[in-house]
Amino acid sequence: MRLNKFLSNSGVASRRKCDEIIAEGKVFVNGKQVTELGFKVNEKKDKVMVEGKVIKLPSSFVYIKLNKPKGYACTAHDEKGRKTIYDLIDCDERLFSVGRLDYDTEGLIILTNDGDFANKVAHPKYEMEKEYRVTCEGDIKESELAVMRKGVVVDGTRMPSAKVEKLSYENGFTKLSVVINEGQNRQVRRMFEAIGHDIKLLKRVRIGDVRLGGISRGEYRDLTEEELNSLVRN
Ligand code: URA
Repeated sequence: MRLNKFLSNSGVASRRKCDEIIAEGKVFVNGKQVTELGFKVNEKKDKVMVEGKVIKLPSSFVYIKLNKPKGYACTAHDEKGRKTIYDLIDCDERLFSVGRLDYDTEGLIILTNDGDFANKVAHPKYEMEKEYRVTCEGDIKESELAVMRKGVVVDGTRMPSAKVEKLSYENGFTKLSVVINEGQNRQVRRMFEAIGHDIKLLKRVRIGDVRLGGISRGEYRDLTEEELNSLVRN
């Protein structure tokens, strides 16, 4: 197997990032530094190390959907020492999340040790739909919905268009459904900041055809065969 494929399948990083890691001379095979991306490794025999850690292909694949609560970071080691989603999961495999949610966002996160799958599902070219429930301050007007649907302008750049539906307005708060394809950094929050409404609650309820369903906050379960196939098919 090519070294860059071996590393990304092992969950080190995306294929492109793995190419960078190799080119930077951080990878050693059987004690020798290798900087050639296409270097062939024998995955059964060779000892591959990245920055002092032994890298192994997973022995079996795990695919989990988690209901991330607010107040958890989507990273293995948070530099501010905050709680992370890995504190919620009891699994010996080295898992990583398919995309991320902000610290203050809750809802659906998919985790896996299958690097190829994760890179594919997260890749912008597959345009996987992500659906959010938003609760924000104030009564959102039809004209503001139209602006968000077209793509709000943030710092001179137009954000991608979004499907936005108003669900209700009650006691000073509007509830909406927002569907986006791309996952730009803090995209939903930036859309609402741009039209001057503070988000009180942001929750992801769907990725492609996979729904959060009835999973309680902080709980997780395996993806069903059907859910898994739907993501790969997309
Ligand atoms: N958009 C955001 O602003 N935050 C998230 O966590 C996800 C989408």
